[in-house]
Order: sequence, then structure tokens, then C-alpha cells
Amino acid sequence: MNRKETKANNILINEEEEKLLLDHNYDGIEEFDYPLPAWWVWTFIGGIVFAAGYIYFYNYAGAPSLKDEFKQEMAAIEKVREEQRKLTGNFDEADFKTWQQGENVDQLAASVYEENCLSCHEEKGKGDIGPNLTDAYWINVQDTNPGTLYGFILRGNEDNGMPAWEDMLSKEELYAAVHFVLSVKGTNIPGKEPQGEKLP
Ligand code: HEC
Repeated sequence: MNRKETKANNILINEEEEKLLLDHNYDGIEEFDYPLPAWWVWTFIGGIVFAAGYIYFYNYAGAPSLKDEFKQEMAAIEKVREEQRKLTGNFDEADFKTWQQGENVDQLAASVYEENCLSCHEEKGKGDIGPNLTDAYWINVQDTNPGTLYGFILRGNEDNGMPAWEDMLSKEELYAAVHFVLSVKGTNIPGKEPQGEKLP
């Protein structure tokens, strides 16, 4: 192949290279003008096309703004919270814990239990008409967190014979009932046979 010298530096180049050589030299520096790789060019063009669509969609086509999206998501979260509040009857765990620190809590729990629950759940929660509250098996609850128990006792399950205590007991009395159930939970007193699912 024929070789030529470049203008500025007298370097030998072939015909292919001559086509790529830029006319300019920059303070004696000569350059080849290689085409950009196709993947780069297409990524670049793709970026521009995408940006045009993006700008149109978000600025002119009525797409939700960041604020709108935020509001929508918050509304969804609020809905879940509302459902949770309904399930737990607005149970406030911190308030319950503070209540538990009070005086004579155990006595209060025992007397609320005796007056309202004993007739069906029997001595120490061993169960009779109502299920045994001392074993690991539960019919109505997926866990035995205070909020879950509070919500269940509040709503009851009247179809199966467990009254709803919402209108019959004050918040403190409900706390006392929850406290009692938690205090007998896991004591495994022989009484009514296990019912429902075993919880860890
Ligand atoms: C009239 C009888 C009756 C009274 C009174 C009663 N319960 Fe119940 N309780 C039941 C029955 C029946 C069930 C089981 C409901 C079912 O099978 O879904 C139950 C279920 C429960 C459960 C859930 C147990 C489980 O395995 O899911 C708890 C907790 C509970 N009662 C607590 C109480 C507390 C606390 C009181 C007093 C404030 C009380 N109950 C008063 C009949 C009673």
C-alpha cells in the first residue's frame, strides 16, 4: 500500500489513515477522526428520544407530578394505617406500656377478668365455653401482640360466642383484660383442649 507523510509531523500513513486524518493540526498535533462506535451513537440518540418523550409526558401530557405521586402513595399508606387502627381499635402501645407500669395492675387485671371473662374462660384462663388462653393454640389471632389482643377483645367474635367488649369495658379495663391474657399466655394450664393454630 502507498504510504504518505502527514503534513505536520511527516509520519508515514496509508490511504485509509489519510481519509481519517483531519485537516487541522493543533499546534503541531494531528488527529485521526475515527467514527464513534455504533453502540455509543445509538445510546446517545436513544437518550435524546427518551428525554423528548419524558419531558412531554411529565410536562404536557398530564402525568402526575412528584407531589401528586407522593400524595397518592401517602393516601395508600394512610388507608393501610386506618385499617390497622380499625383492627387494633386505635391501640396505643406506648400508652398501654405506661399503664402496665402503674400500681396494682395485676390485681386490676385479675378483677376485670373475674367479673367479665371467668364465666367462659374459667380459672386462670384454662378454658371452658371459651378456648384455653394458656396454650399456644389460637383461633382468632395471628399473633399475640398486645395490640392484636386488644383489637380482638374489643371486637369479639359474637358468631362463635365471644362478646365484643368495646361498649362494655373502658380503655383501662380493656388494658387490664389484655394484661391478664398476656399473663396467663404460655402457662399451659390443663383445661380445654387446644383449638386453632399453634403460634410460635
Ligand atoms: C360468653 C362467653 C365468653 C366471655 C364472657 C368471654 N369470652 Fe373470650 N371467647 C369466648 C369464645 C366462645 C371464644 C372463641 C371464639 C371463636 O371460636 O372464634 C373466645 C375467644 C377469646 C379469645 C381468643 C382466643 C383464641 O384462641 O383466638 C380471647 C383472647 C378472649 N376470648 C378473651 C376474653 C376476655 C379477655 C374476656 C373478658 C373481657 C372474654 N374473652 C370473655 C367466649 C367468651
